[in-house]
Amino acid sequence: MPVPKAELHLHIEGTLEPELAFALAARNGVTLPYVDTAALREAYRFSDLQSFLDLYYGLMAVLRTAEDFTELADAYLERAAAQGVRHAEIFFDPQAHTARGVPIGTVIEGLGASLDRAEERYGISTRLILCFLRDESAESALATLEAAKPYLHRITGVGLDSAEVGHPPAKFREVYEEAARLGLRRVAHAGEEGPAAYVREALDVLGVERIDHGLRCMEDPSLVERLARERVPLTLCPLSNVRLRVIDTLADHPLRAMMTAGLMVTVNSDDPAYFGGYVGDNFDGVRDALGLEPEQLRELARNSFEASFLEDDEARRERYLAEVEAYEFGGA
Ligand code: ADE
Ligand code: ZN
Repeated sequence: MPVPKAELHLHIEGTLEPELAFALAARNGVTLPYVDTAALREAYRFSDLQSFLDLYYGLMAVLRTAEDFTELADAYLERAAAQGVRHAEIFFDPQAHTARGVPIGTVIEGLGASLDRAEERYGISTRLILCFLRDESAESALATLEAAKPYLHRITGVGLDSAEVGHPPAKFREVYEEAARLGLRRVAHAGEEGPAAYVREALDVLGVERIDHGLRCMEDPSLVERLARERVPLTLCPLSNVRLRVIDTLADHPLRAMMTAGLMVTVNSDDPAYFGGYVGDNFDGVRDALGLEPEQLRELARNSFEASFLEDDEARRERYLAEVEAYEFGGA
């Protein structure tokens, strides 16, 4: 059994495997521009974040009913459980669905039906994080938060994703202020393709508690020093970074240097159906490419629970942390 871990950076739409996409397309009468799953997989050759997002939003056309979202989440949870995930904080992109005429309630209730049984079926506790698309307007983000108000009992926090460059965090100051007033936790993608300055801005203007990716903080030593001092968690996604050409190979990943610099880093999968692996595969990838020792892998697993939004259930966090400490790494 893999080391117990929390997954903190996972887009549920990014778990849509080609087989499920074709099954949902058939069920919903949607025609996909690929002849079969092999042709679809062939198209997973991305040159940057935008080339991925174009395909990713296109494939979401198959997600139409609450049951579709329930099946999507069930499939993720089953795979995640097999890779040692005990707790998952799951992103979703309501605007990618409401723009296609799928109501936000269909998305949230569909996902919720899966998450309600996740503990019993898969042994995974869950939280939902509603993400705003940063290449859409600030007004659209505010309208999305407004539309989510009847479902806030299901939502733990807000995030910010999609095309980063040219869409700085400050664009979303107002909606993050409103989210804070509503008692929601705050995270944001920053420093994936965008500059280190966006990481600072997400902290200072949006008040985020975690940074998703944050890789490019390494270009700014004073920012690294601050992130380490304040123990701001960074949710890294190594396989994603290679597939989206943020770095050339896993061996080039700064994860080890980030740990040495005292940063609070975690390992996650981002969009596992598209990037060649789930969270355990990301752990295995960095272990092999960077030569991480068992105690470093244990630190990553420990960080994942410490960085998770389990403040409403500290007893559970302690149980998970005890599982991490008791885990015996094999010879591999
Ligand atoms: N949406 C899904 N995956 C993403 C990523 N890696 N960066 C920004 N937005 C995303
Ligand atoms: Zn992401």
